[in-house]
Amino acid sequence: MDTLEAIKTRRSVRKFSNRPVEPAKLQGVLDAARMAPSWANLQCWRFVVVTDPATKARISELSYVEAFFGPKGYKANPAQKALAEAPVVIVACADPGQSGDLRGQQYYLADVGIAAENLMLAAHALGLGSVFVGVFDEQELGELLNIPPELRIVGLFPLGYPEGEPKAGPPRKELDDIVHYEKWQA
Ligand SMILES: Cc1cc2nc3c(=O)[nH]c(=O)nc-3n(C[C@H](O)[C@H](O)[C@H](O)COP(=O)(O)O)c2cc1C
Repeated sequence: MDTLEAIKTRRSVRKFSNRPVEPAKLQGVLDAARMAPSWANLQCWRFVVVTDPATKARISELSYVEAFFGPKGYKANPAQKALAEAPVVIVACADPGQSGDLRGQQYYLADVGIAAENLMLAAHALGLGSVFVGVFDEQELGELLNIPPELRIVGLFPLGYPEGEPKAGPPRKELDDIVHYEKWQA
C-alpha cells in the first residue's frame, strides 16, 4: 500500500476480532512510530504496550471521564469497548522535558501526535486497525501503569485486526474552507 493510499483509506477502528497480533507486526507498528520526526530529534515519546486482559479492562474503564461524557450510563467513550477487546493497547506518553518549550509553546504534543499518525498508518498498511483515544483519567492510568509522574499520557491506541469493515469515515471540510493562499482571506 503506498503512502497516499494508506492516508486516504485509514479509518478509526473500534471493533476488533480476537485474532492475536503477530509480534513482528507489533514491532512494525512501534518501529513506524519510532521513525517519526520530533523536536530537535529528541524523541520524547515513550510507549507502554499492554496485552494483559485485566489491565486492558481497567484502561477501558478509565477512558470514561464523567466531566467529558456526562453522568455514568449516559454516554460512553465510543472507543471504550475497543480498549478492552483489542488484543493490544499501546499507551503513548511524552517526556515534556525531552522536547521543545519555546515562549510557552510546548512541542511534545506535536511530537507524539506525529508518531501516533505513523503508528496508525503502519497498522493500517499491515492489515491492522487502531484509533486515537484521547479521553482518559490520566492520573489513575499513570498509577495503574507505573508511569513516572513527570511524563504526560497523550493517547491510547487499541490495536488489532478489524472485525468487519469500519464505517465510512466522517466527512472532512473542503480545502476551500480551510486553506488560505498568500494571506488570510476574511
Ligand atoms: C486527539 C484525538 C483524540 C481522539 N479521542 C477519541 C476518543 O477518546 N474516543 C474515540 O472513540 N475516538 C477518538 N478519536 C478519533 C476521532 O473521533 C476520529 O479520528 C475522527 O472522528 C475521524 O474519523 P477517522 O479516524 O475514521 O477518519 C480521537 C482522535 C484524535 C486525533
